[in-house]
Amino acid sequence: MDFKKEIEKLLKKHVDEVSMEIPKNNFGDYAFPCFNEAKRLKKNPNEIAKELSKKLKADFIEKVEVVGPYINFFVKKDVLVDEVVDKILKEKENYGKSKLGTEKVMVEFSQPNTHKAFHVGHIKGTAMGESLARILESIGNKVLRANYQGDTGMHVAKWLWCYTKYHSKETLRDDEEWIANIYVDSVRRLEENEELQEEVDEINRKLDSKEDKKLNELWKKTRQLSLDSFEKIYKELNTRFDNYLFESQVEERGKALAKELLNKKIAEISDGATIVNLKDQNLGVWVLLRKDGTALYSTKDLALAEEKFNKHKIDKAVYVVGKAQELHIYQLFKTLELMKFKQAKNCRYVPVCEVRFPWGKMSSRTGNNVLYSSFKRELVEYARQEILKRDKISEDELKKRSLAIAIACMKYSMLKQDPNKVTIFEKEKAMNFEGDTGPYLLYSYARASSILRKTKGSKAKITSTISEKEKELIKKLDELPARVKEAAENLDSSVIANYTYKLAQTFNEFYHNCQVIGSEEESFRLRLVEAFRATLKNSLNLLGINVIEEM
Ligand code: ARG
Repeated sequence: MDFKKEIEKLLKKHVDEVSMEIPKNNFGDYAFPCFNEAKRLKKNPNEIAKELSKKLKADFIEKVEVVGPYINFFVKKDVLVDEVVDKILKEKENYGKSKLGTEKVMVEFSQPNTHKAFHVGHIKGTAMGESLARILESIGNKVLRANYQGDTGMHVAKWLWCYTKYHSKETLRDDEEWIANIYVDSVRRLEENEELQEEVDEINRKLDSKEDKKLNELWKKTRQLSLDSFEKIYKELNTRFDNYLFESQVEERGKALAKELLNKKIAEISDGATIVNLKDQNLGVWVLLRKDGTALYSTKDLALAEEKFNKHKIDKAVYVVGKAQELHIYQLFKTLELMKFKQAKNCRYVPVCEVRFPWGKMSSRTGNNVLYSSFKRELVEYARQEILKRDKISEDELKKRSLAIAIACMKYSMLKQDPNKVTIFEKEKAMNFEGDTGPYLLYSYARASSILRKTKGSKAKITSTISEKEKELIKKLDELPARVKEAAENLDSSVIANYTYKLAQTFNEFYHNCQVIGSEEESFRLRLVEAFRATLKNSLNLLGINVIEEM
């Protein structure tokens, strides 16, 4: 039961504007300040509080107290325990789930391009998309996870050119770093000698016309190696996809759509190029086809939207895409609207802001960008040292735990802030076992597990008194379903991330203040620990973070 909401309902029968507070001290579980109501009625707030308090009664309320201008509500203890703790223990991994959503939603995310790096920015997009998919799923929607990869175009031509010309003795392999390095090498060589670009253009042209059999073969093979290397990463990031959509597959349809738009006078010719003029909507000019008729990124996105809705029969399309492409995405949505594409209004954009390091911005083209594999290696090594400080365990267990900690660290640090904010990643901070970090959350989970391991699950009896810290924990546990709903409505997984941190904090405070094992309240407190453990696991799961039993 959402007690806050229930009390608000009660209040709404008597007052216009209901905004509740959660008091810091022992002043009740929820509080309603009467200032606004007093202003409205031009009365003394204390009097209003006194009058109102008499009218507010419900089965779950133990008492209502007035302190100055505040009405304080106390929820019955046995109700708290029955309604929250027992419910969680019964529902277990289903706690937090609901059937509010009824749509088929496609969440498009990650979208690395083949023949290029999978860098930290991709980790963030992948973490955000996977988490949103889980959140939307958990409220009952049918979710399709889609990846949309750039497997054609100039970057591919550069790679193939550089490989054939300078690296052809090296064996082809599905190694992310090797693939990325060839691309970086191509950029460096082209910068050193601009004339070489002609050779790349020629390759690009041949790729487009598909006339060179040998080149096509190499493209196919290396494209697959690139995709295979990403698949290894997705496994470690706890992600999988239902649909792989490729730029190469929507190109033809995109060109046809551009021509249709021209016929319908939605698009026009400007300097030989086909464009959509969106200046009136403050969205500038969107170029669909180059002078030579070749398709651009924009063209393909039109066809992609069509494919998403028509072929996959979805109700809603969520685009989890880099903030740098925000304008492009809004140009796309607007053009879909102009062409009277029925589902234009069912497209949503979730920006992925950059990941930066204390030493500055990371670049996606020039080679000083941080690749997934080196980033992971560094974090795993750090986690390893931390574990070794505390524990002596087998090499296998060490590997398993350090990887889990590294993934939790990167994911949480990228999910915790507002999606419109840049992530500044500082290793020592993000790895701190005691801070607002992924490792801290895993640590809290492992602590709860260790408490429960020490006992043999005795039958619980409800105690008559519940301490403040216990009550706070129960109320935090109770919040999960409301937070999931909020996160789903706002397409914002930071809501869950922040909740998870508060939950762990509340638990740790409880644990420091209330002795569990060996106390008179042992059986009841153990149930609380168990309910916490289940709730934390569920909320971490919504973030795409796997738990570990020991740390
Ligand atoms: N692959 C693209 C890139 O790396 C991102 C794709 C974003 N999604 C889209 N529908 N445009 O820039």
